[in-house]
Amino acid sequence: MCSDDWKGQYGLIACEQLGFSSYISSRSMRVDIVEEELQEEFVSINHLIPENKVTSLHHAVYVREKCSSGRVIILKCVTCGVRIGYSPRIVGGNMSSLMQWPWQVSLQFQGYHLCGGSLITPIWIVTAAHCVYDLYMPSSWTIQVGLVNLIDTPAPSYSVDKIIYHSKYKPKRLGNDIALMKLAIPLTFDDMIQPICLPNSEEDFPDGKMCWTSGWGATEEGAGDASPVLNHASVPLISNKVCNHKDVYGGIIAPSMLCAGYLKGGVDSCQGDSGGPLVCEEMRIWKLVGATSFGIGCADVNKPGVYTRITSFLDWIHEQMERELKT
Ligand code: ARG
Repeated sequence: MCSDDWKGQYGLIACEQLGFSSYISSRSMRVDIVEEELQEEFVSINHLIPENKVTSLHHAVYVREKCSSGRVIILKCVTCGVRIGYSPRIVGGNMSSLMQWPWQVSLQFQGYHLCGGSLITPIWIVTAAHCVYDLYMPSSWTIQVGLVNLIDTPAPSYSVDKIIYHSKYKPKRLGNDIALMKLAIPLTFDDMIQPICLPNSEEDFPDGKMCWTSGWGATEEGAGDASPVLNHASVPLISNKVCNHKDVYGGIIAPSMLCAGYLKGGVDSCQGDSGGPLVCEEMRIWKLVGATSFGIGCADVNKPGVYTRITSFLDWIHEQMERELKT
């Protein structure tokens, strides 16, 4: 949105239209430094609408080609992507410490951990559609957050109010493998429980960038289903071109998928990590770049992990959250 005619009091309305029920702050930024795809077709508040009638931006904007101030609005709807209580210290292996991945959620079906998820607001969790597609029963699911050890932590379980999977989810090819879970009551954030930021639209995460994946999934291929402790691994992003090479996935990687890991194998997510986060740090803010989707085996040569590319589903996420806000 062009910053011409923008007023701070539009902040909450704008965030609500993206499905958030909170608004933190807004600032403006020079349009020439935002992603190129976003440098045209601006909207702005229609000044023909009287001030006190601007309650819905959908009906209060008009498209303009130029933005005379040359500045666009940067909107912040939630405080996210910060690890407030975490100070790095060396731990054995890849076991995670409490507060290291405060957005990591365990999704449990009838009390058993099945998948991971990422907290993005006090009530919304991003996960994979394949985790919930065949088990589409919100009342049988609970979630746990703010814990490392699944077995002997007396962490509370929260009930799930709604499950929304992508209507174009393709079970065979795992296309559009994304879903949202809505909690029955909002979580309270603390050092152990924090949301992860969604990326900006069109935000680019370069190949080779080191990012992190975490979960309670198997620590060895075929070695049972879940690990009692939360593990993490650092993995580089791989371009879709390389990932689609005939020796790698040979053309099955769609643009809305993203690969991460090592072609030489050795480090990967695995069964039980699905739906969980692939996060990258950008200027000290952590962002959700992928949701664990699939792989052939785990950590095998030329078979890196495949993740759902979050930037491809930002509109979908906002639309679902907005729809639920209105009902
Ligand atoms: N589909 C798996 C699950 O349900 C996740 C597999 C990830 N595999 C991999 N090699 N990265 O937990």
